[in-house]
Amino acid sequence: MILRFCLASILVISSLTSIAQNDQHRPKIHFTPEKGWMNDPNGMVFYKGIYHLFYQHYPDSTVWGPMHWGHATSTDLIRWERKPIAIFPDTLGMIFSGSAVVDKRNSSGFGSATNPPLVAIFTSHSAEAEKSGSNSFENQSLAFSTDDGKTWRKFAGNPVLRSPGIRDFRDPKVMWHEPSSKWIMALAVVDKIEFYSSPDLKNWTRESEYGKNAGAHGGVWECPDLFSLKDENGKNVWVLIVNINPGGPNKGSATQYFLGDFDGKNFKAYADSTKWIDYGPDEYAGITWSNTGDRKIFIGWMSNWDYAQVVPTLRWRSAATIARELKLKKTGSELYITSTPVDEIEKYTSTAEVHTLKPGGMDKMSLPCRIKTTISAESDFSLLFGNESGESVVIGYDKTANQFYIDRTKSGKSNFNAGFAAKHTVPRFGNSSMINLDVILDVSSIELFADEGLSTMTSIFFPTKDYNRIYLPQANPSTMIHYFKLKPVF
Ligand code: FRU
Repeated sequence: MILRFCLASILVISSLTSIAQNDQHRPKIHFTPEKGWMNDPNGMVFYKGIYHLFYQHYPDSTVWGPMHWGHATSTDLIRWERKPIAIFPDTLGMIFSGSAVVDKRNSSGFGSATNPPLVAIFTSHSAEAEKSGSNSFENQSLAFSTDDGKTWRKFAGNPVLRSPGIRDFRDPKVMWHEPSSKWIMALAVVDKIEFYSSPDLKNWTRESEYGKNAGAHGGVWECPDLFSLKDENGKNVWVLIVNINPGGPNKGSATQYFLGDFDGKNFKAYADSTKWIDYGPDEYAGITWSNTGDRKIFIGWMSNWDYAQVVPTLRWRSAATIARELKLKKTGSELYITSTPVDEIEKYTSTAEVHTLKPGGMDKMSLPCRIKTTISAESDFSLLFGNESGESVVIGYDKTANQFYIDRTKSGKSNFNAGFAAKHTVPRFGNSSMINLDVILDVSSIELFADEGLSTMTSIFFPTKDYNRIYLPQANPSTMIHYFKLKPVF
């Protein structure tokens, strides 16, 4: 009897230990798939009070494979509920990245006037066609839902936009363009973005292209987004997001953008030079939710194709960034996109319990946590998060170079990729004498938003033991740091 009890306890303890090991590095306030592989966020749409997040997903392995659209929902963009897989591969191929819209006028005929359908527009990528030597293996297809996003059916007439024999022809992002009463699709085509229009989401006409001679071209263009934002004077400014891999400012994958005008046919940039939404190595494929009115909410994949498939997590791979609100801000004569954590995170920030640190101070802390503080632009600044094993990640501001940095050279495991242990930087674009910082630290990621999101960067890391200390080096001027616990949601 006693022996049986002992054996049972050993079994329970060892299975708990292996769950803990399998889940090492699992974030507590960032979305991850329960198991298997995840990359780009897809088809984000807000409908009837629910935010839908779909994502590139291979449930059977922790490396990239036949792509499905995984699904999660949230009422506040922070606490995500995992849902059954929404869209499965079929005879046309894997389900690559794309978007989803609320077809309010039932232009597609998939729903009715009283029950408008949700329509997903994605790339069908046929590995067989690719293997057989064809160049036309990426075609655009539709799926729709008439039960508010719970279940999805493919359109029988797929594909709706065929590849003209171009190998990289993917990631359709669709929006309703009110002035011309048309659907507009931005599509990534090798090294440029093509724009298509449609009355009904099923028939598409090519309108124009942008970008062959603009922006960064260190890699292939992927996952575009087109939408408008109001500037500080209420003027409409069009934003074209173009993800690129490789060719990012800190190597590998990253998200660039252009500001300009769009008339329903052509996108004209104010300037053809590149700006980056996030300078860190670990925000990619970021795009925005549809159907959120004037609010523009962005989420990215928190990894980098340089090492995404070899990072040391066991049961799952990759997390999404925190959802971010995009706005426009002018500094000097330049207009930039700012990104900041969505306001909904305030509800999870334990502001009743403020922790403060003076220079030279070290505190025990638990993850996830958030630092909201103001520092002087007149001197260098640094802040460390680490563990008893001497592993740490450092964030800081270098006054001479006028840039912020995240240094993960000694952050923990890094032998899975030669370039991983590095220090990354983002220029400072703000120009006030004080800098406000908002930092979100989770078990294996740090997101830095400086000057109200004018300079943003995201970085992941894999310590052998979770960080549990915060340290403000003595060398800092008499800055006090305020930090808060974040309520874990996973
Ligand atoms: C970007 C990307 C997309 C593609 C998807 C495939 O990370 O390469 O261009 O649709 O991933 O999973």
